[in-house]
Amino acid sequence: MSNKKLITAALPYANGPVHIGHLAGVYIPADVYARFQRRSGKDVAFICGSDEHGIPITIRAKKEGVTPQDIVDKYHEIIKKSFSDLGISFDEYSRTTSQNHRETSQDFFKVLYEKEKFTEEVSEQYFDEQANEFLADRYIVGTCPNCGNENAYGDQCEKCGSTLSPSELINPKSMLSGNVPIKKDTKNWYLPLNEYEDFLNEWIIEGHKDDWKPNVYGQVKSWLTDGLKPRAMTRDLNWGVPVPLPNAEGKVLYVWFDAPIGYISFTKEWAEKNGKDWKDYWQSEESDLVHFIGKDNIVFHCIIFPAMMKAHGDFIMPKNVPAFEFLNLENDKISTSRNWAVWAHEYVEEFPGQQDVLRYALLSSAPETKDNNFTWKDFQTKNNSELVGIFGNFINRVAVLIHKYYAGIVPQGDLNASELHEINKSAKEISGFLENYEFRNSLTALMNLARFGNQYLQAEEPWKTIKDNPEKAAHSLFVAAQIAVALAQLCEPFMPFSSQKLLNMFNVQK
Ligand code: MF3
Ligand code: ZN
Repeated sequence: MSNKKLITAALPYANGPVHIGHLAGVYIPADVYARFQRRSGKDVAFICGSDEHGIPITIRAKKEGVTPQDIVDKYHEIIKKSFSDLGISFDEYSRTTSQNHRETSQDFFKVLYEKEKFTEEVSEQYFDEQANEFLADRYIVGTCPNCGNENAYGDQCEKCGSTLSPSELINPKSMLSGNVPIKKDTKNWYLPLNEYEDFLNEWIIEGHKDDWKPNVYGQVKSWLTDGLKPRAMTRDLNWGVPVPLPNAEGKVLYVWFDAPIGYISFTKEWAEKNGKDWKDYWQSEESDLVHFIGKDNIVFHCIIFPAMMKAHGDFIMPKNVPAFEFLNLENDKISTSRNWAVWAHEYVEEFPGQQDVLRYALLSSAPETKDNNFTWKDFQTKNNSELVGIFGNFINRVAVLIHKYYAGIVPQGDLNASELHEINKSAKEISGFLENYEFRNSLTALMNLARFGNQYLQAEEPWKTIKDNPEKAAHSLFVAAQIAVALAQLCEPFMPFSSQKLLNMFNVQK
């Protein structure tokens, strides 16, 4: 097994704060996994950063009447802070507007260009003559041919949910000037994804049938069955990484070309600061690359980015791409535009010191295999009956009893075979599940150890045996303390703040 773990979490768009859907479906599971791998002695690089290019950013800037740079500066800080407040232990959290990222992604593009991996194609795109700009699909509005909604976008109608192309819109208008756009020829560089079908079929469809999640495998399979087409890797836009070729003014790298390269640029930044070689993580068979993403990112991480890396030639392929489904809030789709969300930065303010409660609640309803739902009622129950009622209750009883009978000094003792077995069994179960990306099961295994602890105390009744069989009482509390310490250690990936408190309380190491 490889000793290095290169763990990435999807780069959030810096066009708004992160909400519980992002946390439950990407960042908290990724953090649990990274922390678990560090505890197992792996050499971990846990990499993320803000995705600061692309249309979502320019749209937001337009809405707020500020520049794209203003938008990304603002949200990068908010997002970065909420991750750190919630204990997401990135080794690097950078941003795609950094100089290093610009160079790294331009270099990557140039390698593909020089190896003649791109095709050049001229196509007709909508152009706004007054604004003197080509229009991204999102910048064209018109009437939806399917439902008659007059405010459908060139890529999608939000009313009926249908996917559109700008030429299908009735009465298309530019969002920039309100004028009717004209069509104009433009040249762009395409990656012929169809040429990578054999490679992808062999690597994923034949090679990862049994170890990738069915939702991920299934989506890739259906893309490949439908057949892949060349995809433009450059765009006519003025916000993004400039295309590093002569005569490419007004053209930038496609945001889905530059963003995943962010994983590489940010690893470089981290490696530089920490005396490491980034290539040991990206270009060595001794390293496992794992991408944590939401389901809407599957095609980019399982098809497009791998094809880019294959074309480049020097990179390893991901070992796994555990993609999550979506989390709903109170049975309704989380929506930024309708402000229907629980925002990470607001939670941190409203529930100071309660980060682990949110981590626990979101992990236990993580949308692992299908969409899942978050309710405040459920949040309350999980806190009261599980965290406080089972986990906290056990630790508390152990602490109180040891204080009362032994002045806070854990009595000496030995675990017998079955007691030792019980503790080891939990540790094994938790790691087995985590190695398999089964976060909810691993959390259940952790809680089962706390449940066992409570049952053990209940059966041993040290508060009774202390009177006529003090040796037995001492043994019981020794065992209970071992369970409590094991819980304090094993809960670290899930609830790092509580873990630290408990370890201090028991005066033991991680
Ligand atoms: N910003 C994208 C999203 O939120 C994710 C980018 S992941 C990367 O859907 F790989 F491109 F970086
Ligand atoms: Zn419609």
